[in-house]
Amino acid sequence: MTDPFLAPALLGRLALANRVVMAPMTRSRAVDAATPHAAAALYYAQRASAGLIVSEGVCISPTAAGNPDLPGLWNERQVAAWRQIIDAVHAAGGRIVAQLWHLGRAGLPELLPDGAAPVGPSAVAIDTTTYLARRQVPYVVPRELSVAEIGAVVEEFASAARRARDAGFDGVELHGANGYLIDQFLHASSNRRTDAYGGTPVARTRFLREVAEAVCAVWGSGRVGVRLSPTSSFQDMHDPDPAELFGAALDALSRRELAYVHVVEPGVSGAQGTGEDRTGQIDAGWVRRRWDGGLIATGELDRERAAAILRRGDADAVGFARLFLANPDLPARLASGAACNEPVRETFYGGGDEGYIDYPTLHAAALLDHLVEGGHADHVAGVAPLSGATPVHDWPLAWAAARVRPGVGRGALAS
Ligand SMILES: Cc1cc2nc3c(=O)[nH]c(=O)nc-3n(C[C@H](O)[C@H](O)[C@H](O)COP(=O)(O)O)c2cc1C
Repeated sequence: MTDPFLAPALLGRLALANRVVMAPMTRSRAVDAATPHAAAALYYAQRASAGLIVSEGVCISPTAAGNPDLPGLWNERQVAAWRQIIDAVHAAGGRIVAQLWHLGRAGLPELLPDGAAPVGPSAVAIDTTTYLARRQVPYVVPRELSVAEIGAVVEEFASAARRARDAGFDGVELHGANGYLIDQFLHASSNRRTDAYGGTPVARTRFLREVAEAVCAVWGSGRVGVRLSPTSSFQDMHDPDPAELFGAALDALSRRELAYVHVVEPGVSGAQGTGEDRTGQIDAGWVRRRWDGGLIATGELDRERAAAILRRGDADAVGFARLFLANPDLPARLASGAACNEPVRETFYGGGDEGYIDYPTLHAAALLDHLVEGGHADHVAGVAPLSGATPVHDWPLAWAAARVRPGVGRGALAS
């Protein structure tokens, strides 16, 4: 049977060379003024063999942010930084869309302009705590958006979409998942409005519809995707009738002929697996039966589970977050059945190059073996150590060279 992962796919106007998607991952490494980290071009280019890269969440405006060290897309400096990243991905043969993000009530005043409260559909706080500077802090009660302010936020999504286009992205994905602003409008637990944006499930999809419409006007619908997480209760999301709600959301979107819906599979809460039973829950197969456009499924997938989804036709492509973080050449590993590097949670968020650009590909690991076993360590004594400035075609050698000391074999960094 042909390999399910390496077949091409067409999601709207997005042509994927294979069916393995790098799922969006916030890495909290942005530098001053919400500009991407200097090593981000190498980080993303290392992963250019993905059929599609979905970028980390990118904040659409300063007031859309409110978590540590997130990148944005509201000024020209950010556009220039993203352009370098996208150029590197394209030069390496990849495709990348920007995940457009408004955190809504998940924003922390300490990290918002003037220490202001975050905004949300209703004045209802997330009933859990989160980490800030290694401390647990409670979420605060958000300020309810007025109808005029909702229009302004929709326009911010459109502006960020224009900047994403100017930067050279291949498209955009709206972050409608995981308890952030769009999802807050969808769910009854966070949306208590009694105006045109609240009440019935259809009314609660109105904000999503308006954002999708505004962003499609910029990009054309064939380059716009939407991420949804129908089963996730992450960040206190609950709804009395998820099937009715997400049926209404898909109905609202289906009129637009989007590039894809990106569904977070059951059994995932934010960035972690829950270990719960997935039977009977809203999964990719459920969405497939109600949605005739492109479909990406992500969440706690391993090789077998992902291959089964593709073989059943439940999705056009499968997304991986943690496995892609730790395996820059994941499509090749899935296709060949090679073992995968384990992701290291401690370096997921924040920090520098460690746990960011130093997970080896099969090629880099084989090069290290070659240097050690062939006694070639002396030849690479002068190779500059791996850094964000290492050219993408040189990084496997820089990675391997840093792990051998001349005449000694595997060095102190080899662990
Ligand atoms: C470090 C990290 C950061 C994440 N950041 C985002 C994000 O910015 N946007 C988003 O939609 N999901 C984000 N997620 C969730 C993933 O996209 C994915 O849905 C989840 O990790 C389950 O997939 P996996 O089992 O393949 O890791 C993040 C996950 C991880 C591990």
